[in-house]
Amino acid sequence: MIAYTNNIGKDLIIMKPAVHRIGVFTSGGDAPGMNAAIRAVVRAALYYGIDCIGIRRGYHGLLNGDFTRLNFESVSDISRRGGTMLYSARSMEFIEESGRKKALATCKLLGLDALVGIGGDGTFKGLLSLANSGISVIGIPGTIDNDIACSSYTIGYDTACNTALESIDRLRDTMKSHERCSVVEVMGHRAGHLAVSVAIACGATVVLVPEKEVDFDNDVIEPIRQARLGGRTHFMVIVAEGVPGGAYRVAEQIKNATALDTRVTVLGHVQRGGSPSARDRMVATYMGYEAVKLLAEGKTCRVVAMDGEEIVDYDITEALAMTKGLDARGQAVTQAMTGVACSDSN
Ligand code: F6P
Repeated sequence: MIAYTNNIGKDLIIMKPAVHRIGVFTSGGDAPGMNAAIRAVVRAALYYGIDCIGIRRGYHGLLNGDFTRLNFESVSDISRRGGTMLYSARSMEFIEESGRKKALATCKLLGLDALVGIGGDGTFKGLLSLANSGISVIGIPGTIDNDIACSSYTIGYDTACNTALESIDRLRDTMKSHERCSVVEVMGHRAGHLAVSVAIACGATVVLVPEKEVDFDNDVIEPIRQARLGGRTHFMVIVAEGVPGGAYRVAEQIKNATALDTRVTVLGHVQRGGSPSARDRMVATYMGYEAVKLLAEGKTCRVVAMDGEEIVDYDITEALAMTKGLDARGQAVTQAMTGVACSDSN
């Protein structure tokens, strides 16, 4: 047990933390809420009497010794900001044994005995490769794709859905005026989670995801035909970026098969930016706190995750072996709303 005065001047007696200095970094594609997670890691570390250092530019920074000192003040007022104050990068060098050796040398030089990596599966694999070298590691899922198998929710997803929706609502105004068919491509990497959520929320006529091979007549033309028979004169088609050919191919096919005037919008990286939603700030803060708590308790090789509304954690190897399909309720609702199943497993 140790007694100390914490960062808000309170005298505390707590368990002696199992680690002394954490390096926190963000890796892979950025996501709104990553800053809130960084802040939570730093503040929780201070609370537990642990030092915290920010590693800039993900694994690239780790192997090049690119760091910044973090304290209570340096993470003030970052929760509401999009992007990541620690920058993010993808490092090819880290995949090599020599790169990992350099990363371990940085940990030694900076006196780091723990790492918290915020990102996706690639980030967790990297942590795992360092875990057997005397460094405690914890992963936090951060990606707008919501495609991390062990977690029902990933930091950034809610904000990305809202950002896409805002644009789609605007598109709908102009598509309605001109009685057009809007084909909107949303991100999601190889998964359709983002597309299904956005489609449900915007009331799309059609949603296409990589989880289901597209039967063009049945999945696209038939719902448009039914909507037209019901009196609709404009149509919203949501296409996940992982669908072969993407939005341009789908729009071309719709144009060839119908008399509809189609327009394509690829939302792209716009979905990755912006101030995080309340949900993303809160989930990020809960996860950041949990990551430090696990380290303080002497745990390692864990991914912090969500199971419904609960914060849980899994062994990294087990987490990486898990698989995740589209949410069952989302699929059922999509089928009821559009008349078409959005997954082959239906
Ligand atoms: O994983 C997040 C994501 O935005 C995916 O949705 C997308 O496929 C990819 O990253 C884009 O990566 P980049 O920023 O390297 O273009």
